[in-house]
Amino acid sequence: MSLDRKSFLRRAALGTVGLVTGASLRGAPAPAAPAVAWPAFDAREPEAFWRAVRAQFLFEPGLAYFNTGGLGPAPLPVQAKATAVAAQLQQRSEHGHELFAAARGTVAAFLGAEPAEIAFVRNATEGNAIIAAGVQLAAGDEVIFESHAHPGGSFPWLNQEKLRGVVVKLFEPDPHDPAGNVARISALMTARTRVVQVSHVTAPTGIVLPVAAIARLCRERGVWFHIDGAQTAGMFPFAVRELGGDSYATSGHKWWGGPLETGVLFVRRERIDAIAPTLVGAHSGELDSPSLPAKFSFAAGAERFEYGTRNAAAVVALAEAARFQVQVGRDRIAARGRALAAQVRAGLAQITGVEILTPESPEMCAAMITFRAAAVPFGALFDRLVREHQMRCRPVSEQGLNAVRVSTHFFNSPAECAALVAAVEKILKKT
Ligand SMILES: Cc1ncc(COP(=O)(O)O)c(C=O)c1O
Repeated sequence: MSLDRKSFLRRAALGTVGLVTGASLRGAPAPAAPAVAWPAFDAREPEAFWRAVRAQFLFEPGLAYFNTGGLGPAPLPVQAKATAVAAQLQQRSEHGHELFAAARGTVAAFLGAEPAEIAFVRNATEGNAIIAAGVQLAAGDEVIFESHAHPGGSFPWLNQEKLRGVVVKLFEPDPHDPAGNVARISALMTARTRVVQVSHVTAPTGIVLPVAAIARLCRERGVWFHIDGAQTAGMFPFAVRELGGDSYATSGHKWWGGPLETGVLFVRRERIDAIAPTLVGAHSGELDSPSLPAKFSFAAGAERFEYGTRNAAAVVALAEAARFQVQVGRDRIAARGRALAAQVRAGLAQITGVEILTPESPEMCAAMITFRAAAVPFGALFDRLVREHQMRCRPVSEQGLNAVRVSTHFFNSPAECAALVAAVEKILKKT
């Protein structure tokens, strides 16, 4: 019997082979998303191009959406793909797991990883939690992360504090100097430090942390470095392997424009065996014989962190979202988000009483601006922007910051950003 056949039979015994495998869906590619025709990008008159991009999103008229850092909308080709694949699978009531392989290749290329380093997870939190639960730690071992960590980044470690007696140490992000962050982490390290985690871009104030420099520090000290990149994939391009961390979690449903409940965990190939998978099942590995009792072994790559029946349509659509970004232009998207954030910053800076918390230096900021106004509490400012101006930002209560966060992505426009600044000015004048 060929190895392929043997492995097929084992997987069939586990129920991990869909009945369609080899019969219908194999060889029948997932339905194509409708082709999008773009006007050529003209740097002298770019707004025609950006209007065509904007038309690919289903925003209700009048809404100015500045909360991609919370949740990003999926463009029409991504929604179409998700719907078409889901319908195709429903016609035969199949799970479609075999569609993961092609999606893994596309997503790995998008993130600058190898396919075997990619696990499809449901959100960034799940990726962070797989690392926190799986890294070898004993009571008293120390984990360092920033005090601005999102609950999706901090709770998995606070849980390990409860479960395994891990000691959590926090550093305050330095918004003025990238090297200051490396120094603050280094100052907290001891012989018991096992893990450092940072957000690539912090959620409350959008600070871009110097992950490559922190990776070097961690490597020198033999410490696991995990990056919570919930905010970054799709905000700007990067090659995850080149950043130098051991693992990286990201959301598909924010800047990337994937469907809800999509995310990716990257684990560096050489380091995969160091993370014990805590939740396993069909797809995490295989048995050495068709029936139990049998020896279980993990899948060779990061696929071992996946298990059970999944929403294959969402995973395929996440790959489509990667293609959509490539089609628009990844550098162009990053530059657009950055330029709009700079416009918001410049406008807000002119308003008396407004303080901008996001660093200005280009290496420390990207497409989010967080600001506050002493005269109006953040909750009231946020509410009034929604109710009086149909502008959706994000209130920032963390660390007593009392601020409002503005995310600027490629579907936002200079006109919306100008209107946001005018709205803030009007609200502050009326109080
Ligand atoms: C830095 C950071 N980590 C984790 C998360 C949680 O992401 P998800 O909802 O995909 O788990 C967020 C969400 O805003 C975030 O900003």
